[in-house]
Amino acid sequence: MTSLSVLGSTGSIGLQTLNVVKNDPRLKVVALAAGSRWEEVLAQAKEFSAAVIALEDPEAARAAEREKTALGLDDLIVLSGPEGIARCAELDEAAVVVHAVPGFAGIIPLMRALESGKRVAFAGKEALVSAGELIEPYLRKNPGQLVPVDSEHSALFQCLLGEDPESVVELVLTASGGALRDYSAEQLRNVTPKEVLEHPTWKMGKKVTVDSATLVNKSLEVMEAHYLFGVPYEKLKVVVHRQSIVHSMVTFVDGSTKAQASVPDMSLAISYGITFPERHPGVVPSLSPYYGTLTFEEPDTDRFPGVLLGHRAGEMGGTAPCALSYADEILVKEFLNGRIGFLDITRTLFRFLDAYRPRPVDGLDVLKREALRAEEKIRELLL
Ligand SMILES: NC(=O)c1ccc[n+]([C@@H]2O[C@H](COP(=O)([O-])OP(=O)(O)OC[C@H]3O[C@@H](n4cnc5c(N)ncnc54)[C@H](OP(=O)(O)O)[C@@H]3O)[C@@H](O)[C@H]2O)c1
Repeated sequence: MTSLSVLGSTGSIGLQTLNVVKNDPRLKVVALAAGSRWEEVLAQAKEFSAAVIALEDPEAARAAEREKTALGLDDLIVLSGPEGIARCAELDEAAVVVHAVPGFAGIIPLMRALESGKRVAFAGKEALVSAGELIEPYLRKNPGQLVPVDSEHSALFQCLLGEDPESVVELVLTASGGALRDYSAEQLRNVTPKEVLEHPTWKMGKKVTVDSATLVNKSLEVMEAHYLFGVPYEKLKVVVHRQSIVHSMVTFVDGSTKAQASVPDMSLAISYGITFPERHPGVVPSLSPYYGTLTFEEPDTDRFPGVLLGHRAGEMGGTAPCALSYADEILVKEFLNGRIGFLDITRTLFRFLDAYRPRPVDGLDVLKREALRAEEKIRELLL
């Protein structure tokens, strides 16, 4: 039996993780953590008999503490604040931490899980993009301690297993193209948050859905792949693959390309992230060999220049990936709140990087400072 601590349990990845657990008798949940939705977390704790929950919002944690008795959860331990989330990442009772906390807030829980030697099934890409230079040493020291859950990185991880890193020519990340992939430049100008949130294939949280539409998500994934696999940026490519069947590919020196394919369902990457190196049976229906046509196209960087930002910030190095990721977090919120247009997100990120001077990453404090500086600069650019 593998025991899990699920960070971000009320979100898209969190809910899909709990669904995987429901269908797999060899998995159980010991801890659940989320931001503020305490009623959902209490209901999950009851359903999965979790021993510990954590809510980042202290007010929500107080409400959960107050109400737990009414649900017969007197023994449930309720933790609070960022420290409560971090403690869920290092509980002795959990063998695997599922990390699905989006944004900058995911950095400390990720570091605490890795420091305490936990296996991590990892989705919260912004944490790795922002703190990659601090996290990389753990990844190189203990390969396999962190197994990616993002479907592209899970595919790359699987394609690279057993291969000599020296024989890798390039990693090719596939992209669905996002909800707006067929919109003209003119249509993109006036697109609303509602249209953007209708992703063609994946049902995801709002931030990652907007990032998928701008293709900034692919940029974050390029930087995530750089840190995960230690591959230089010139060896990372992006291809638009509308069917989302091939999740990514690796090309080797002999001319061979390995790809990983499955029906588009995150449950597979989540399950594999948890059970690696085992594969548990029946997670998703297998792919028919008669699936039909698969297409692979070059991204249209005129309509979707956001796909270029990852290489740009990655090659700038130092704090640039962190600053870009945080700047994007702010801009996505502004777009969802109707304060800026869709195209302003990427346009502002380019202007931001043009003026940005990266600093060396020598600890968490510099990342916090750079995030604050990024926020100030973005506010200035939006005036
Ligand atoms: N969804 C996908 O298919 C997918 C695929 C690949 C990678 N990812 C990555 O996985 C991560 C999660 O994505 P998602 O789509 O699941 O997001 P989501 O649906 O927005 O869910 C976010 C989860 O994190 C919790 N949370 C938010 N802020 C928090 C904080 N400060 N501390 C602790 N918990 C916090 C939320 O709790 P509340 O509900 O209480 O706010 C919720 O449980 C992102 O980094 C995303 O890029 C997602």
